[in-house]
Amino acid sequence: MIIGLLIERKRDGGALSPEEWSAVIAEYTANQVPDYQMSALLMAVFMRGLERQELAALTDAMLASGDRLSFDGWATPRIDKHSTGGVGDKVSLVLAPLVAACGVAVPMMSGRGLGHTGGTLDKLEAIPGFRTNLSLAEAKAQVQKMGCALIGQTTEIVPADRKLYALRDVTATIESIPLIAASIMSKKLAEGLTGLVLDVKRGSGAFLPELDRGLELAKTMIALGEDRGCPTVALLTAMDRPLGRACGNVLETEEAILTLRGEGPADLLEVTYALGIEMLLAAGVERNTKKARKKLETAIDSGLAAEKFEQIIEAQGGNPQTVEDPSVLPQAQAVEVYSAPRTGVVQRVEPRTIGRAIIALGGGRRTVDDVIDPTVGFVITVKPADKVLEGEPIASVFAKDADGIQAGFAALDQAIVIGDKLAEKPLPLVSHRVTRAGVEALR
Ligand code: URA
Repeated sequence: MIIGLLIERKRDGGALSPEEWSAVIAEYTANQVPDYQMSALLMAVFMRGLERQELAALTDAMLASGDRLSFDGWATPRIDKHSTGGVGDKVSLVLAPLVAACGVAVPMMSGRGLGHTGGTLDKLEAIPGFRTNLSLAEAKAQVQKMGCALIGQTTEIVPADRKLYALRDVTATIESIPLIAASIMSKKLAEGLTGLVLDVKRGSGAFLPELDRGLELAKTMIALGEDRGCPTVALLTAMDRPLGRACGNVLETEEAILTLRGEGPADLLEVTYALGIEMLLAAGVERNTKKARKKLETAIDSGLAAEKFEQIIEAQGGNPQTVEDPSVLPQAQAVEVYSAPRTGVVQRVEPRTIGRAIIALGGGRRTVDDVIDPTVGFVITVKPADKVLEGEPIASVFAKDADGIQAGFAALDQAIVIGDKLAEKPLPLVSHRVTRAGVEALR
Protein backbone atom coordinates (compact mmCIF):
# COMPACT_ATOMS: atom_id res chain seq x y z
CA MET A 1 0.00 0.00 0.00
CA ILE A 2 1.35 3.41 -0.96
CA ILE A 3 -0.48 5.76 1.36
CA GLY A 4 0.45 8.87 -0.66
CA LEU A 5 -1.47 7.52 -3.65
CA LEU A 6 -4.56 6.83 -1.53
CA ILE A 7 -4.45 10.36 -0.09
CA GLU A 8 -4.13 11.73 -3.63
CA ARG A 9 -7.12 9.68 -4.86
CA LYS A 10 -9.31 10.79 -1.95
CA ARG A 11 -8.16 14.38 -2.34
CA ASP A 12 -9.25 14.29 -5.99
CA GLY A 13 -12.71 12.94 -5.19
CA GLY A 14 -12.15 9.21 -5.75
CA ALA A 15 -13.02 6.33 -3.44
CA LEU A 16 -10.91 3.78 -1.55
CA SER A 17 -11.92 0.13 -1.74
CA PRO A 18 -12.92 -1.77 1.44
CA GLU A 19 -9.57 -3.61 1.28
CA GLU A 20 -7.72 -0.29 1.10
CA TRP A 21 -9.63 1.11 4.11
CA SER A 22 -8.92 -2.06 6.01
CA ALA A 23 -5.18 -1.84 5.21
CA VAL A 24 -4.92 1.89 6.03
CA ILE A 25 -6.58 1.46 9.43
CA ALA A 26 -4.64 -1.70 10.31
CA GLU A 27 -1.30 -0.08 9.40
CA TYR A 28 -2.14 3.19 11.15
CA THR A 29 -3.12 1.30 14.31
CA ALA A 30 0.19 -0.59 14.12
CA ASN A 31 2.05 2.75 13.89
CA GLN A 32 3.15 2.00 10.31
CA VAL A 33 1.38 5.06 8.89
CA PRO A 34 2.60 8.32 10.46
CA ASP A 35 0.20 10.90 11.89
CA TYR A 36 1.12 13.45 9.20
CA GLN A 37 -0.11 11.17 6.42
CA MET A 38 -3.21 10.13 8.35
CA SER A 39 -3.95 13.83 9.00
CA ALA A 40 -3.81 14.49 5.26
CA LEU A 41 -6.13 11.56 4.55
CA LEU A 42 -8.56 12.72 7.25
CA MET A 43 -8.59 16.19 5.73
CA ALA A 44 -9.27 14.70 2.29
CA VAL A 45 -12.21 12.75 3.77
CA PHE A 46 -13.37 15.90 5.53
CA MET A 47 -13.40 17.80 2.22
CA ARG A 48 -14.66 15.04 -0.08
CA GLY A 49 -16.84 12.85 2.16
CA LEU A 50 -17.13 9.08 1.90
CA GLU A 51 -19.29 6.90 -0.31
CA ARG A 52 -21.66 4.57 1.54
CA GLN A 53 -19.53 1.48 1.11
CA GLU A 54 -16.43 3.42 2.14
CA LEU A 55 -18.10 4.50 5.39
CA ALA A 56 -19.15 0.90 6.09
CA ALA A 57 -15.60 -0.30 5.37
CA LEU A 58 -14.00 2.41 7.54
CA THR A 59 -16.33 1.65 10.45
CA ASP A 60 -15.74 -2.10 10.16
CA ALA A 61 -11.98 -1.60 9.92
CA MET A 62 -11.97 0.59 13.05
CA LEU A 63 -14.10 -1.96 14.87
CA ALA A 64 -11.77 -4.77 13.76
CA SER A 65 -8.70 -2.87 15.00
CA GLY A 66 -9.21 -4.37 18.47
CA ASP A 67 -11.22 -6.89 20.46
CA ARG A 68 -14.85 -6.52 21.44
CA LEU A 69 -16.74 -7.01 24.66
CA SER A 70 -18.69 -10.21 24.33
CA PHE A 71 -21.49 -11.23 26.66
CA ASP A 72 -22.58 -14.42 24.88
CA GLY A 73 -25.19 -16.29 26.87
CA TRP A 74 -25.74 -13.44 29.35
CA ALA A 75 -29.44 -12.55 29.27
CA THR A 76 -29.26 -9.04 30.81
CA PRO A 77 -30.06 -6.37 28.19
CA ARG A 78 -27.10 -4.11 27.40
CA ILE A 79 -27.86 -0.60 26.24
CA ASP A 80 -25.56 2.39 25.86
CA LYS A 81 -26.01 6.00 24.79
CA HIS A 82 -23.54 8.25 23.01
CA SER A 83 -23.63 11.98 22.39
CA THR A 84 -22.23 13.68 19.32
CA GLY A 85 -20.65 16.24 21.64
CA GLY A 86 -21.62 19.36 23.51
CA VAL A 87 -20.65 21.95 26.09
CA GLY A 88 -21.79 21.25 29.64
CA ASP A 89 -22.97 17.85 28.40
CA LYS A 90 -22.40 15.65 31.45
CA VAL A 91 -25.41 13.44 30.70
CA SER A 92 -23.33 10.22 30.49
CA LEU A 93 -22.12 10.59 34.07
CA VAL A 94 -25.70 10.72 35.29
CA LEU A 95 -27.33 8.36 32.83
CA ALA A 96 -24.97 5.37 33.03
CA PRO A 97 -25.35 4.75 36.78
CA LEU A 98 -29.02 5.75 36.65
CA VAL A 99 -29.94 3.23 33.96
CA ALA A 100 -27.73 0.56 35.57
CA ALA A 101 -29.63 1.16 38.81
CA CYS A 102 -32.81 0.29 36.85
CA GLY A 103 -31.48 -3.19 35.98
CA VAL A 104 -30.05 -2.54 32.51
CA ALA A 105 -26.36 -3.18 31.85
CA VAL A 106 -24.46 -0.16 30.50
CA PRO A 107 -21.01 -0.99 29.11
CA MET A 108 -20.12 2.60 28.21
CA MET A 109 -17.10 3.53 26.10
CA SER A 110 -16.57 7.28 25.82
CA GLY A 111 -14.06 9.76 24.49
CA ARG A 112 -11.99 12.71 25.72
CA GLY A 113 -12.63 16.37 24.98
CA LEU A 114 -13.02 16.89 21.24
CA GLY A 115 -12.70 20.34 19.68
CA HIS A 116 -14.67 22.81 21.79
CA THR A 117 -16.71 20.02 23.44
CA GLY A 118 -15.95 18.22 26.69
CA GLY A 119 -15.36 14.47 27.01
CA THR A 120 -16.71 11.96 29.51
CA LEU A 121 -13.27 10.41 30.11
CA ASP A 122 -11.76 13.75 31.14
CA LYS A 123 -14.69 14.36 33.51
CA LEU A 124 -14.35 10.90 35.09
CA GLU A 125 -10.58 11.27 35.43
CA ALA A 126 -11.21 14.46 37.40
CA ILE A 127 -12.10 12.02 40.21
CA PRO A 128 -8.81 11.24 41.98
CA GLY A 129 -7.65 7.71 41.12
CA PHE A 130 -10.43 6.91 38.60
CA ARG A 131 -9.17 4.50 35.89
CA THR A 132 -10.86 4.61 32.50
CA ASN A 133 -8.34 2.25 30.86
CA LEU A 134 -9.77 -1.01 32.18
CA SER A 135 -8.77 -4.14 30.31
CA LEU A 136 -11.46 -5.92 28.34
CA ALA A 137 -11.64 -8.64 30.99
CA GLU A 138 -11.94 -6.09 33.82
CA ALA A 139 -14.65 -4.15 31.98
CA LYS A 140 -16.66 -7.30 31.27
CA ALA A 141 -16.40 -8.57 34.83
CA GLN A 142 -17.47 -5.19 36.20
CA VAL A 143 -20.46 -4.92 33.86
CA GLN A 144 -21.60 -8.39 34.90
CA LYS A 145 -21.07 -7.63 38.58
CA MET A 146 -22.58 -4.16 38.92
CA GLY A 147 -24.23 -3.43 35.57
CA CYS A 148 -21.87 -0.71 34.38
CA ALA A 149 -18.29 0.10 33.44
CA LEU A 150 -17.14 3.52 32.21
CA ILE A 151 -14.16 3.09 29.93
CA GLY A 152 -12.25 4.63 27.03
CA GLN A 153 -10.75 3.31 23.84
CA THR A 154 -7.56 1.42 24.75
CA THR A 155 -4.83 -0.44 22.91
CA GLU A 156 -7.19 -3.45 23.25
CA ILE A 157 -10.59 -1.96 22.37
CA VAL A 158 -11.01 0.16 19.18
CA PRO A 159 -7.39 1.33 19.26
CA ALA A 160 -7.93 2.88 15.82
CA ASP A 161 -10.49 5.32 17.22
CA ARG A 162 -8.22 6.04 20.17
CA LYS A 163 -5.57 7.35 17.77
CA LEU A 164 -7.86 8.90 15.16
CA TYR A 165 -9.99 10.69 17.77
CA ALA A 166 -6.93 12.34 19.32
CA LEU A 167 -5.61 13.28 15.87
CA ARG A 168 -8.92 14.76 14.66
CA ASP A 169 -9.11 16.82 17.85
CA VAL A 170 -6.06 18.84 16.83
CA THR A 171 -6.24 18.80 13.01
CA ALA A 172 -9.60 20.54 12.33
CA THR A 173 -11.13 17.32 11.01
CA ILE A 174 -13.96 16.80 13.48
CA GLU A 175 -17.06 18.20 11.79
CA SER A 176 -17.53 15.48 9.19
CA ILE A 177 -20.59 13.19 9.08
CA PRO A 178 -18.66 10.05 8.01
CA LEU A 179 -15.78 10.64 10.46
CA ILE A 180 -18.13 11.26 13.39
CA ALA A 181 -20.33 8.30 12.42
CA ALA A 182 -17.39 5.88 12.06
CA SER A 183 -15.83 7.07 15.33
CA ILE A 184 -19.01 6.73 17.37
CA MET A 185 -20.33 3.54 15.82
CA SER A 186 -16.99 1.66 15.90
CA LYS A 187 -16.89 2.26 19.67
CA LYS A 188 -20.51 1.35 20.23
CA LEU A 189 -20.43 -1.79 18.09
CA ALA A 190 -17.44 -3.02 20.13
CA GLU A 191 -19.48 -2.98 23.34
CA GLY A 192 -21.58 -6.11 22.79
CA LEU A 193 -24.83 -4.11 23.03
CA THR A 194 -28.41 -5.24 22.57
CA GLY A 195 -29.44 -1.65 21.77
CA LEU A 196 -28.09 1.88 21.38
CA VAL A 197 -29.50 5.36 21.98
CA LEU A 198 -27.80 8.32 20.30
CA ASP A 199 -27.97 11.94 21.46
CA VAL A 200 -27.43 14.03 18.33
CA LYS A 201 -26.82 17.64 19.23
CA ARG A 202 -28.07 20.52 17.10
CA GLY A 203 -27.65 24.30 17.38
CA SER A 204 -24.64 26.62 17.33
CA GLY A 205 -22.56 24.59 19.82
CA ALA A 206 -22.97 21.28 17.96
CA PHE A 207 -20.37 20.01 15.50
CA LEU A 208 -23.18 20.03 12.92
CA PRO A 209 -25.37 22.99 13.92
CA GLU A 210 -28.06 22.72 11.20
CA LEU A 211 -31.08 20.47 11.71
CA ASP A 212 -30.81 18.75 8.33
CA ARG A 213 -27.15 17.81 8.94
CA GLY A 214 -28.00 16.52 12.43
CA LEU A 215 -30.77 14.38 10.95
CA GLU A 216 -28.42 13.09 8.26
CA LEU A 217 -25.85 12.13 10.91
CA ALA A 218 -28.54 10.40 12.97
CA LYS A 219 -29.78 8.41 9.97
CA THR A 220 -26.22 7.50 8.95
CA MET A 221 -25.39 6.12 12.42
CA ILE A 222 -28.74 4.32 12.72
CA ALA A 223 -28.12 2.56 9.39
CA LEU A 224 -24.61 1.51 10.51
CA GLY A 225 -25.99 0.14 13.78
CA GLU A 226 -29.05 -1.63 12.41
CA ASP A 227 -27.11 -3.17 9.49
CA ARG A 228 -24.79 -4.71 12.09
CA GLY A 229 -27.56 -6.10 14.29
CA CYS A 230 -27.67 -3.32 16.89
CA PRO A 231 -31.14 -1.69 17.19
CA THR A 232 -30.43 2.04 17.25
CA VAL A 233 -32.56 5.12 17.95
CA ALA A 234 -31.56 8.80 18.09
CA LEU A 235 -32.93 11.89 19.82
CA LEU A 236 -32.02 15.36 18.57
CA THR A 237 -31.32 17.66 21.50
CA ALA A 238 -30.48 21.35 21.90
CA MET A 239 -26.89 22.60 21.95
CA ASP A 240 -27.57 26.29 21.24
CA ARG A 241 -26.68 26.94 24.91
CA PRO A 242 -24.66 24.86 27.41
CA LEU A 243 -26.53 22.03 29.12
CA GLY A 244 -26.95 22.55 32.85
CA ARG A 245 -24.93 25.22 34.60
CA ALA A 246 -21.41 23.76 34.94
CA CYS A 247 -18.87 23.73 32.07
CA GLY A 248 -15.42 22.26 32.75
CA ASN A 249 -14.34 18.84 33.97
CA VAL A 250 -14.43 18.95 37.78
CA LEU A 251 -17.38 21.34 37.76
CA GLU A 252 -19.38 19.03 35.50
CA THR A 253 -18.56 15.96 37.55
CA GLU A 254 -19.81 17.83 40.62
CA GLU A 255 -23.02 18.81 38.83
CA ALA A 256 -23.57 15.24 37.62
CA ILE A 257 -23.28 14.02 41.23
CA LEU A 258 -25.75 16.65 42.43
CA THR A 259 -28.12 15.51 39.69
CA LEU A 260 -27.81 11.88 40.77
CA ARG A 261 -28.67 13.09 44.27
CA GLY A 262 -31.82 14.81 42.98
CA GLU A 263 -30.44 18.35 43.03
CA GLY A 264 -29.63 18.81 39.34
CA PRO A 265 -30.70 21.57 36.95
CA ALA A 266 -34.02 21.04 35.15
CA ASP A 267 -32.64 21.02 31.58
CA LEU A 268 -30.01 18.40 32.39
CA LEU A 269 -32.63 16.21 34.05
CA GLU A 270 -35.02 16.56 31.11
CA VAL A 271 -32.43 15.45 28.54
CA THR A 272 -31.22 12.66 30.86
CA TYR A 273 -34.77 11.36 31.36
CA ALA A 274 -35.59 11.52 27.63
CA LEU A 275 -32.52 9.40 26.79
CA GLY A 276 -33.02 7.14 29.82
CA ILE A 277 -36.61 6.42 28.77
CA GLU A 278 -35.36 5.34 25.34
CA MET A 279 -32.77 3.09 27.00
CA LEU A 280 -35.32 1.39 29.28
CA LEU A 281 -37.72 0.91 26.35
CA ALA A 282 -34.93 -0.49 24.16
CA ALA A 283 -33.99 -2.88 26.98
CA GLY A 284 -37.61 -4.01 27.28
CA VAL A 285 -37.64 -3.45 31.06
CA GLU A 286 -40.54 -0.99 30.65
CA ARG A 287 -43.20 -0.88 27.96
CA ASN A 288 -44.23 2.76 27.98
CA THR A 289 -42.73 6.19 28.44
CA LYS A 290 -44.63 7.04 31.61
CA LYS A 291 -43.55 3.91 33.46
CA ALA A 292 -39.99 4.25 32.24
CA ARG A 293 -39.78 7.84 33.50
CA LYS A 294 -41.24 6.81 36.87
CA LYS A 295 -38.60 4.10 37.20
CA LEU A 296 -35.81 6.60 36.50
CA GLU A 297 -37.25 9.14 38.95
CA THR A 298 -37.54 6.48 41.64
CA ALA A 299 -33.91 5.43 41.12
CA ILE A 300 -32.83 9.02 41.78
CA ASP A 301 -35.24 9.70 44.66
CA SER A 302 -34.34 6.45 46.45
CA GLY A 303 -30.61 7.18 46.28
CA LEU A 304 -30.01 3.98 44.24
CA ALA A 305 -28.57 5.85 41.24
CA ALA A 306 -26.09 7.81 43.38
CA GLU A 307 -25.14 4.61 45.20
CA LYS A 308 -24.49 2.91 41.86
CA PHE A 309 -22.13 5.73 40.84
CA GLU A 310 -20.32 5.31 44.17
CA GLN A 311 -19.87 1.57 43.48
CA ILE A 312 -18.56 2.24 39.97
CA ILE A 313 -16.10 4.86 41.20
CA GLU A 314 -14.78 2.51 43.86
CA ALA A 315 -14.50 -0.41 41.43
CA GLN A 316 -12.49 1.75 39.00
CA GLY A 317 -10.02 2.96 41.63
CA GLY A 318 -11.54 6.37 42.32
CA ASN A 319 -12.38 7.90 45.67
CA PRO A 320 -15.99 6.80 46.39
CA GLN A 321 -16.27 9.59 48.96
CA THR A 322 -16.70 11.90 45.92
CA VAL A 323 -20.43 11.17 45.71
CA GLU A 324 -21.11 12.07 49.31
CA ASP A 325 -18.71 15.01 49.33
CA PRO A 326 -17.80 16.38 45.87
CA SER A 327 -15.46 18.88 47.54
CA VAL A 328 -12.85 16.07 47.62
CA LEU A 329 -12.43 16.78 43.89
CA PRO A 330 -9.46 19.03 43.03
CA GLN A 331 -10.45 22.68 43.27
CA ALA A 332 -9.49 25.71 41.16
CA GLN A 333 -6.94 28.13 42.66
CA ALA A 334 -8.92 31.22 41.68
CA VAL A 335 -12.69 31.76 41.57
CA GLU A 336 -14.57 34.95 40.81
CA VAL A 337 -18.17 35.93 40.30
CA TYR A 338 -19.20 37.57 37.03
CA SER A 339 -22.09 40.05 37.09
CA ALA A 340 -24.51 41.11 34.37
CA PRO A 341 -23.03 44.13 32.57
CA ARG A 342 -26.52 45.56 31.91
CA THR A 343 -30.21 45.07 32.60
CA GLY A 344 -32.17 43.16 29.96
CA VAL A 345 -33.01 39.73 28.61
CA VAL A 346 -30.40 37.04 27.97
CA GLN A 347 -30.41 36.49 24.20
CA ARG A 348 -27.72 33.86 23.94
CA VAL A 349 -25.21 31.88 25.95
CA GLU A 350 -22.88 30.78 23.18
CA PRO A 351 -21.54 27.25 23.85
CA ARG A 352 -18.64 27.41 21.37
CA THR A 353 -17.21 30.52 23.05
CA ILE A 354 -17.46 28.81 26.43
CA GLY A 355 -15.92 25.56 25.15
CA ARG A 356 -13.01 27.36 23.52
CA ALA A 357 -12.45 29.46 26.64
CA ILE A 358 -12.16 26.27 28.73
CA ILE A 359 -9.40 25.09 26.38
CA ALA A 360 -7.68 28.50 26.68
CA LEU A 361 -7.86 28.22 30.49
CA GLY A 362 -6.05 24.85 30.28
CA GLY A 363 -9.09 22.56 30.53
CA GLY A 364 -8.75 21.13 27.00
CA ARG A 365 -6.01 20.08 24.59
CA ARG A 366 -4.28 22.08 21.84
CA THR A 367 -1.93 19.24 20.94
CA VAL A 368 -2.25 15.48 21.34
CA ASP A 369 0.17 15.42 24.31
CA ASP A 370 -1.32 18.28 26.36
CA VAL A 371 -2.10 17.53 30.00
CA ILE A 372 -5.30 19.25 31.04
CA ASP A 373 -6.17 21.15 34.21
CA PRO A 374 -9.51 19.62 35.27
CA THR A 375 -10.39 22.36 37.73
CA VAL A 376 -10.98 25.27 35.33
CA GLY A 377 -14.26 26.33 33.76
CA PHE A 378 -17.48 28.20 34.30
CA VAL A 379 -20.73 27.95 36.20
CA ILE A 380 -23.34 29.95 34.31
CA THR A 381 -26.64 30.39 36.11
CA VAL A 382 -28.63 32.15 33.36
CA LYS A 383 -30.28 30.75 30.23
CA PRO A 384 -31.60 32.44 27.09
CA ALA A 385 -34.91 34.25 27.83
CA ASP A 386 -33.98 34.95 31.49
CA LYS A 387 -34.36 38.56 32.67
CA VAL A 388 -31.33 40.00 34.47
CA LEU A 389 -30.50 43.22 36.32
CA GLU A 390 -27.24 45.09 35.90
CA GLY A 391 -24.78 43.95 38.58
CA GLU A 392 -26.65 40.69 39.29
CA PRO A 393 -24.29 37.66 39.62
CA ILE A 394 -24.90 35.42 36.60
CA ALA A 395 -21.77 33.26 36.39
CA SER A 396 -18.51 32.26 38.08
CA VAL A 397 -15.08 31.74 36.54
CA PHE A 398 -12.77 29.00 37.84
CA ALA A 399 -9.14 29.44 36.82
CA LYS A 400 -5.59 28.82 37.98
CA ASP A 401 -4.67 32.48 38.47
CA ALA A 402 -5.73 36.11 38.04
CA ASP A 403 -4.87 36.09 34.30
CA GLY A 404 -7.22 33.14 33.86
CA ILE A 405 -9.98 35.00 35.66
CA GLN A 406 -9.52 37.97 33.30
CA ALA A 407 -9.57 35.67 30.25
CA GLY A 408 -12.69 33.98 31.65
CA PHE A 409 -14.44 37.31 32.13
CA ALA A 410 -13.58 38.31 28.55
CA ALA A 411 -15.05 35.04 27.29
CA LEU A 412 -18.25 35.58 29.28
CA ASP A 413 -18.52 39.14 27.85
CA GLN A 414 -18.60 37.52 24.41
CA ALA A 415 -20.66 34.43 25.21
CA ILE A 416 -23.52 35.91 27.24
CA VAL A 417 -25.44 38.34 25.05
CA ILE A 418 -27.96 40.54 26.83
CA GLY A 419 -30.46 42.63 24.85
CA ASP A 420 -33.74 44.47 25.30
CA LYS A 421 -35.94 41.58 24.29
CA LEU A 422 -35.54 38.01 23.12
CA ALA A 423 -34.66 38.01 19.40
CA GLU A 424 -34.73 34.26 18.78
CA LYS A 425 -36.45 31.49 20.71
CA PRO A 426 -34.08 28.86 22.16
CA LEU A 427 -34.34 25.42 20.54
CA PRO A 428 -36.59 22.85 22.21
CA LEU A 429 -34.48 20.67 24.50
CA VAL A 430 -35.55 17.44 22.77
CA SER A 431 -36.91 18.09 19.29
CA HIS A 432 -36.86 14.92 17.14
CA ARG A 433 -36.84 11.15 17.50
CA VAL A 434 -35.23 9.22 14.67
CA THR A 435 -35.47 5.50 13.98
CA ARG A 436 -34.88 3.43 10.86
CA ALA A 437 -38.61 3.92 10.15
CA GLY A 438 -38.27 7.72 9.95
CA VAL A 439 -38.17 11.04 11.77
CA GLU A 440 -40.76 12.14 14.33
CA ALA A 441 -40.89 15.82 15.31
CA LEU A 442 -41.63 15.86 19.04
CA ARG A 443 -42.92 19.41 19.26
N1 URA B 1 -18.01 11.50 19.67
C1 URA B 1 -17.17 10.57 19.18
O1 URA B 1 -16.96 9.53 19.81
N2 URA B 1 -16.58 10.80 18.00
C2 URA B 1 -16.80 11.90 17.28
O2 URA B 1 -16.23 12.04 16.21
C3 URA B 1 -17.67 12.89 17.80
C4 URA B 1 -18.28 12.66 19.01
